[in-house]
Amino acid sequence: MAKSLNVLISGSGIAGSVFAFWLLRAYPLAQITIVERAPSLRLTGASVDIRSSAVDIIKWMGAEAEIRKNSTNEKGMQWVNAKGKPFATLGATGRTDVQSMTSEFEIFRGALGRIFIEPVLDKVDLQFNETVDHYEESAEGVKVTFTNSKQTKTYDMLVAADGYGSRIRGAMLGTHTQEQVHDEGVHVAYFTIKKDLLNGSQFCQWHNEPGGRVTGLRPDPNPEGQCRAMLINVTTKSQKTEKARLNQALAEGNESYMRLMEEMFEDAGWLAPQILKGMRESDDFYCSLFAQTRCPKLQDGQRVVLLGDAGYATPGMGTSLAIMGGYNLAGELLRHNCDIPKVTQAYEELMLPFVKSQQGGAVGEIVMQLLNPQTSRGIWVRDTFMAVLTGLKIDKIAMHVGGWFGFMESKLSLPDYAWPVEGQ
Ligand SMILES: Cc1cc2nc3c(=O)[nH]c(=O)nc-3n(C[C@H](O)[C@H](O)[C@H](O)COP(=O)(O)OP(=O)(O)OC[C@H]3O[C@@H](n4cnc5c(N)ncnc54)[C@H](O)[C@@H]3O)c2cc1C
Ligand SMILES: *[C@@H]1O[C@H](CO)[C@@H](O)[C@H](O)[C@H]1NC(C)=O
Ligand SMILES: *[C@@H]1O[C@H](CO)[C@@H](O)[C@H](O)[C@H]1NC(C)=O
Ligand SMILES: *[C@@H]1O[C@H](CO)[C@@H](O)[C@H](O)[C@H]1NC(C)=O
Ligand SMILES: *[C@@H]1O[C@H](CO)[C@@H](O)[C@H](O)[C@H]1NC(C)=O
Ligand SMILES: *[C@@H]1O[C@H](CO)[C@@H](O)[C@H](O)[C@H]1NC(C)=O
Repeated sequence: MAKSLNVLISGSGIAGSVFAFWLLRAYPLAQITIVERAPSLRLTGASVDIRSSAVDIIKWMGAEAEIRKNSTNEKGMQWVNAKGKPFATLGATGRTDVQSMTSEFEIFRGALGRIFIEPVLDKVDLQFNETVDHYEESAEGVKVTFTNSKQTKTYDMLVAADGYGSRIRGAMLGTHTQEQVHDEGVHVAYFTIKKDLLNGSQFCQWHNEPGGRVTGLRPDPNPEGQCRAMLINVTTKSQKTEKARLNQALAEGNESYMRLMEEMFEDAGWLAPQILKGMRESDDFYCSLFAQTRCPKLQDGQRVVLLGDAGYATPGMGTSLAIMGGYNLAGELLRHNCDIPKVTQAYEELMLPFVKSQQGGAVGEIVMQLLNPQTSRGIWVRDTFMAVLTGLKIDKIAMHVGGWFGFMESKLSLPDYAWPVEGQ
């Protein structure tokens, strides 16, 4: 079984490529097919963090040095007032075990995706413009029919690593795909501005305005001088019309969302006019809703399993969880000698409780609301609090109660998998 293991991965993102990497470490002869809906690798996105046990895993992958070389070198975060004057600073810690809000491994999603996929590219069959249309479980394997080629093929395992909108998740759980998606009340637009509005500063800067509006700039190491911008709108549960308006613009696409941002941020102080201008000139505009996927299970007791955002999207921790999940799933294959139902069950038992502890239910929402308050008074309270906190250097202590910021640095206890020594 192990030698001829034949696996289908849906999605060539972070989760899919980390899993392929470790699967090939466990079974160098495994046949791996990856189907990707997009016409090419999607190597864009803003910066993502690597935290918790994912830090150990990237070291074991031999990827640490390259990730460091490509990191954004952010020194920390600063909150600024409408005139751009910083009143609170939270530094990066320079350690990997206790990280503050800026991770020591802050890297653009595209650079990270490339680092992960490159070592496996010539060892897998990667098909673009392709998706799983439907599947059927049988004793011999999972029979998959593809959307584009219309072909049907049988695999030992189907791994859904196709992001938070995974249709395989819906099929597996027998629900609408949207049912597991939990709105965090945060809408974000990301884009690269082709001018360094931070004037060389290595600090990420945030500015809050009433109405849950946040403008943010993060440094970009590109020597030509650029920066990454974020426009955020935080809505509460009761703001149904506002939410609907944002969601409709999201559904309508880039142009509609950009127009809404121009309207909403027109009077947002600080560098809002320059940021809006930069948005129009950018060529990587991306907007989305911060959402968690919360699943009652990650496997169907047979051969289908959910990996990464498809099973447990968690803003702030999604990339780290995807790395841990990819490593674990391959490790369990090794430990249970490719007995797939046992493997996926063991993977679920390891991941699901940890995911729940990271998703934190209402706590995450409260933290978001607190960090991005709705009213002038709320902003004043938060700003004063932040200023006092950092002024007293309590930010160093605050890292230890990192859970308060929603970034608990607890680790997943990883089993000791007996990885074969490389090159044997
Ligand atoms: C273009 C893009 C930009 C992103 N930008 C950010 C960001 O700025 N900040 C942030 O925190 N997170 C961002 N994310 C999400 C982040 O990458 C994930 O939260 C995290 O890395 C977990 O990765 P994943 O592999 O589970 O999911 P993803 O990284 O979302 O990868 C899923 C992959 O599956 C593909 N796919 C989707 N549907 C199908 C289908 N039906 N069949 C086959 N393939 C499919 C997608 O094209 C993608 O390549 C972005 C994701 C994408 C796709
Ligand atoms: C994918 O589809 C696009 C648009 O239909 C097409 O231009 C491209 O050549 C296709 N790519 C592959 C690899 O099939
Ligand atoms: C990573 O950094 C190296 C050295 O700075 C650079 O040559 C390479 O292009 C970077 N890779 C990515 C994916 O950005
Ligand atoms: C960068 O410099 C410009 C021009 O002096 C100034 O308007 C702007 O506020 C500066 N940006 C930051 C982030 O300090
Ligand atoms: C953004 O959020 C604020 C409140 O959170 C709301 O007042 C505003 O209308 C929202 N914008 C849109 C376009 O919904
Ligand atoms: C939005 O804009 C980006 C960058 O210009 C582009 O890559 C993407 O395809 C656009 N999305 C849509 C849905 O048009």
